[in-house]
Amino acid sequence: MKKISIAIDGPASSGKSTVAKILAKKLNYIYCDTGAMYRALTYLAIKKGIDFENEQGLVDLCLNHTISFKQTEKEQLVFVDGSEVTEEIRQPNVTNAVSIVAKHGAVRQKMVELQQEIGRLGGVVMDGRDIGTAVLPDAEVKIFLVASVEERAERRYKENQEKGITTDFDTLKKEIEHRDHLDSTRAVSPLKQAVDAVKIDTTGMNIEEVVKEIEEIIIAKS
Ligand code: CDP
Ligand code: CDP
Repeated sequence: MKKISIAIDGPASSGKSTVAKILAKKLNYIYCDTGAMYRALTYLAIKKGIDFENEQGLVDLCLNHTISFKQTEKEQLVFVDGSEVTEEIRQPNVTNAVSIVAKHGAVRQKMVELQQEIGRLGGVVMDGRDIGTAVLPDAEVKIFLVASVEERAERRYKENQEKGITTDFDTLKKEIEHRDHLDSTRAVSPLKQAVDAVKIDTTGMNIEEVVKEIEEIIIAKS
């Protein structure tokens, strides 16, 4: 079967990375978590004391440091200048700042270049906010995942519990709503369904059901 490009976009905790990883494994495709790239840059900005509003300072970080990935059987490891930061980039200090870092046009340009290079040959499942609209506008399959904010907060809450992290449900829900607001209202490449994307409302759907629905779309388009 021809190797295609699959773009998966949607708001926080809609299930993008979980289903993208499963699909990439089943298809033997590359998986690219673009959110992890913005998170790694935010982690670097915190570490180097660069203000989140300092667009040129953030671009300089992109130019002077290396963000890389390594796919293991279980997960995608993230490295900054060769040191693993997979856990660090999921911490609240990064999560609460990432949408500010990601709003800058010049930062996005650098990230999009890297992402397009990864997706150049096809055979990729890429998830993020602007994959179908900006990074891979010619992707054969474009999916826009959504779910009610209650369910998305519930999913993140459970995920945190499993990791032994105590969180307050209402705070978590407010943070998700705030991040979605910043991501969908920014001037450059906001979170938006591509006109040719298929929207799947995953509220009440388990992971297997979502994967199955996307697989049917892939078969129809391949
Ligand atoms: O997994 P989660 O939904 O928490 O977020 P993520 O995919 O790790 O993305 C973190 C943040 O990076 C998002 O809230 C966006 O601000 C930004 N992002 C973006 O602007 N464009 C992308 N293609 C991916 C992420
Ligand atoms: O990548 P994104 O932020 O869109 O979401 P995710 O990290 O894939 O999913 C967030 C959490 O929701 C994970 O713990 C998934 O296992 C869970 N999930 C779920 O329970 N049901 C779904 N249909 C999709 C995801």
